Amino acid sequence: NHPLRLGIAGLGTVGVGVVKIIRKHAQLLEQRTGRKIVISAVSARTRDKDRGVSLSGYDWEDDPVALAKRDDVDVFVEVMGGSDGPAKAATEAAIAAGKDVVTANKAMLALHGQTLAETAEEKGTVIRFEAAVAGGIPAVKALTEGLAGNEITRVMGVMNGTCNYILTRMEATGQGYNALFDEADKLGYLEADPNLDVGGIDAGHKLALLASIAFGTKVSFDNVVLEGIQRISLDDITRAADMGFRIKLLGVAQMTARGLEQRMTPCLVPTLSPLGQLEGGTNMVVLEGDSIEQIVLRGPGAGEGPTASAVMSDITDIARGIRVSTFGQPAKTLTNAPPSRSATP
Ligand code: NDP
Ligand code: HSE
Repeated sequence: NHPLRLGIAGLGTVGVGVVKIIRKHAQLLEQRTGRKIVISAVSARTRDKDRGVSLSGYDWEDDPVALAKRDDVDVFVEVMGGSDGPAKAATEAAIAAGKDVVTANKAMLALHGQTLAETAEEKGTVIRFEAAVAGGIPAVKALTEGLAGNEITRVMGVMNGTCNYILTRMEATGQGYNALFDEADKLGYLEADPNLDVGGIDAGHKLALLASIAFGTKVSFDNVVLEGIQRISLDDITRAADMGFRIKLLGVAQMTARGLEQRMTPCLVPTLSPLGQLEGGTNMVVLEGDSIEQIVLRGPGAGEGPTASAVMSDITDIARGIRVSTFGQPAKTLTNAPPSRSATP
């Protein structure tokens, strides 16, 4: 078997994590997939930067678009971030050049994933994005494979590590959320624009992707009812605790008679419930189907190792020849769900 050759665009928290796994587990990955997984070239903004991992043996490209089009790249791994700009341009270039794409970029997918998936379908390439939803938790795979025999009735979850980290640290330390930004940043949780995290937008992107897979609908981020955690005060947290509750940024998506309802808002959850026990950057995804009833997936939703682990699951699938789109079904067959604004409280 030929080696699977990667081009990695982005060498920050996630990109470095992917390089580390490939270097550390080269043999294991080959045993599991039957192919060598190799890195042909990498790209980031700054060439001369100590990233805590060796990049020897990999070509360097200043331009991620050039990286995406290289003849020695089979899979373009997009871990730069940003809904538009270089990430989107390079992803489009990769698809046009017939490459498969693995990305962790939920912002790009929530806004442009539908178009990208349709173009990929026409070109016979795939876009995979396990890392884009709940970091290290294999939520996408659980829906597309594990629960393939179910009609999905509801998906729920705490899907932003930063918010859960900040809320639980507010409870523990009595500090406001502004003071806790630096702590979340050190753990590699924050988006380049932290407003995406605390505004609930990042979690809304993830919910829109998960809902699309679960219900076979087009990705519909505009219809997610959104509210972030900026207005949650220490007083709110204390009052909730007095009543036996904790405040979580909780996402819920379900199909109703009015259409797909998607909300990502701060909610009171009983302290003794599984959601109420979530600490730090931990995420929880709850999937409900007509045969399974309910499964609960819990794990690290952000950070270097967990997110790189999810990226690797897509890469290893492609190495094994599993080139199924994770949009659930061919993008063109997805239905157009009616808007859910009527669900606004
Ligand atoms: P970082 O900010 O840590 O890293 C971004 C990387 O992209 C950097 O190496 C940066 O270069 C590079 N980059 C940015 N712009 C360009 C450009 N124009 N050309 C070339 N390279 C560029 O981000 P993360 O690793 O945290 O996140 C990457 C993606 O993964 C995002 O889409 C994010 O939403 C997603 N994600 C992140 C998770 C996490 O826990 N961090 C979890 C799940 C998903 P340089 O280093 O030189 O500045
Ligand atoms: N900023 C995101 C979070 C990273 O805090 O959950 C993981 O998607």
